[in-house]
Amino acid sequence: MAKFYITTPIYYVNANPHIGHAYTQIAVDVISRFRRMIGDDVFFLTGTDEHGEKIEEASLKAGYEKGGEKEFVDSIVSNFKRVWDTIGIEHDGFIRTTDDRHKMVVQDFLQRIKERGDIYLGEYDGCFCTPCETFWTETQAEKGLCPDCGRPVTRIREKNYFFKMGKYQETLIDHIKKNPDFIRPDFRRNEVLGFLKEKLNDLCISRPKDRMSWGIELPFDRDYTLYVWFDALINYISGVQGTGLKNQYWPADYHVIAKDILRHHAVYWPIMLMSAGYDLPKTIFAHGWWKMGDEKMSKSKGNVIDPIALSDKYGVDPVRYFLIKTVKMGCDGVFLEDSLVTLYNSDLANDLGNLLSRTLAMVEKYFNGLAPEDDGSAASDDQRKRSAALMASVRDIFPALEEKMKSPEFLLKETLEGIMQPVSLANKYIEVSAPWACAKNRDIASIRLIISDLLEILRSVTIALYPFIPGTSMKIWSQLGLKGTLGKDITWEHILASSGRKYPPGTKVDKGDPLFPRILKP
Ligand code: ME8
Ligand code: MG
Repeated sequence: MAKFYITTPIYYVNANPHIGHAYTQIAVDVISRFRRMIGDDVFFLTGTDEHGEKIEEASLKAGYEKGGEKEFVDSIVSNFKRVWDTIGIEHDGFIRTTDDRHKMVVQDFLQRIKERGDIYLGEYDGCFCTPCETFWTETQAEKGLCPDCGRPVTRIREKNYFFKMGKYQETLIDHIKKNPDFIRPDFRRNEVLGFLKEKLNDLCISRPKDRMSWGIELPFDRDYTLYVWFDALINYISGVQGTGLKNQYWPADYHVIAKDILRHHAVYWPIMLMSAGYDLPKTIFAHGWWKMGDEKMSKSKGNVIDPIALSDKYGVDPVRYFLIKTVKMGCDGVFLEDSLVTLYNSDLANDLGNLLSRTLAMVEKYFNGLAPEDDGSAASDDQRKRSAALMASVRDIFPALEEKMKSPEFLLKETLEGIMQPVSLANKYIEVSAPWACAKNRDIASIRLIISDLLEILRSVTIALYPFIPGTSMKIWSQLGLKGTLGKDITWEHILASSGRKYPPGTKVDKGDPLFPRILKP
């Protein structure tokens, strides 16, 4: 069994998650469910980033006293977990940077780097952006503003520990050039190579404890706490290697992040790993941002959409479907509730929901709710031809989708478009075949053929949709009267095979209520 280790960022617990975070979670959940369905041994790690100045500030602002940070982060972490649960995220591990197992791995990691001779004490004279938790030189922070987020930076001058990042610059450039899949999409890879054309500064990795106490202590100097990014990145190791876990998963197959934290992942992290003597992750994939108008949706700006409120209004699966189907992974997207409603009505209500309800209604009407069996001959010639053509094109669609799902380009939107093709082909097939006319002509054999095809297509589409909209797929599966559990004993290989049908005739179906009632726009 091939291992497949995939991670999301660990999110700052300065406020509750919004649909930007939900997007990363859903994308990784889709890939993980798919990988489990093709038989991989999947480990999906997520978690929370709980130390540092930004969290310390948020804790004070929320009315907790100094020293009460743990109580504060506990309250927010439980919200994160509840949200992931609600939107159907099936992660295998949840790492918190305040966990003892994490702290142990971090201290061991630091000790290794220290023994390598890659840490030294020096004087830090520069700037710091708290919302980004990033150090900047005075030239970078022009006019005292953070070059990333544009907010004011703090001037800092203090004795600190440094990590010899510069030493590894050439090795990293070489690695990126030799491994085209290391940073994806391609334009992000070029961006990192561009950044690496300039001399890489050593990285300040500490804060004096009397200035910033909410962090992990340096194992070799208890007067200092560790720079929060150094602490955070190590979660990808501690999450699979902490106390009691055997690390059979490292190196990660994918780190999925958004473009805001590309430099930390594609420059700092690989160099940290090289210094500590670990293998490098295989692929770092940076997706784009969800925006509100022109601005990035962000916890600190507060221009956010709450994933729970949105799911309460439209359902979890329509939200998952919308986020994945709307934006090509890697690009930015502007959030518009109106687009969600439009997509819901066209794809889910009209196409998928309608196909299911028409098909099941016919099974009830013509066959008393029991799936008919095509007798292989009696249908009209025309109908037989139409059927063969439809089934051939549907059979061609799925294998290509499996390849798309495995691509390091994260072609989730494209896969979803592919899965919906058989749905629209099937709806058109109903129109042209006009089973109602067959009924008038007492051509019951053609109706049997048509319905057998539709049930087979629905069966395959439902399996393929499972990673994207698991709840809905399970519901359709049960309405189709099918046995087995999607994602467990019903796997990707149960999708329409090269020939024949797998939908068992004689199955009792359940018409049920419409899956996606149309939403009227105001
Ligand atoms: O950066 N659009 O945490 P964070 C798309 N703790 N994705 C978004 C988004 C948006 N508008 N806003 C957030 C941190 N995200 C660090 C990470 S990892 C070792 C440490 C998602 O709470 C996206 O995945 O600011 C982004 O990279 C991440 O949340 C940043 O979350
Ligand atoms: Mg952020």
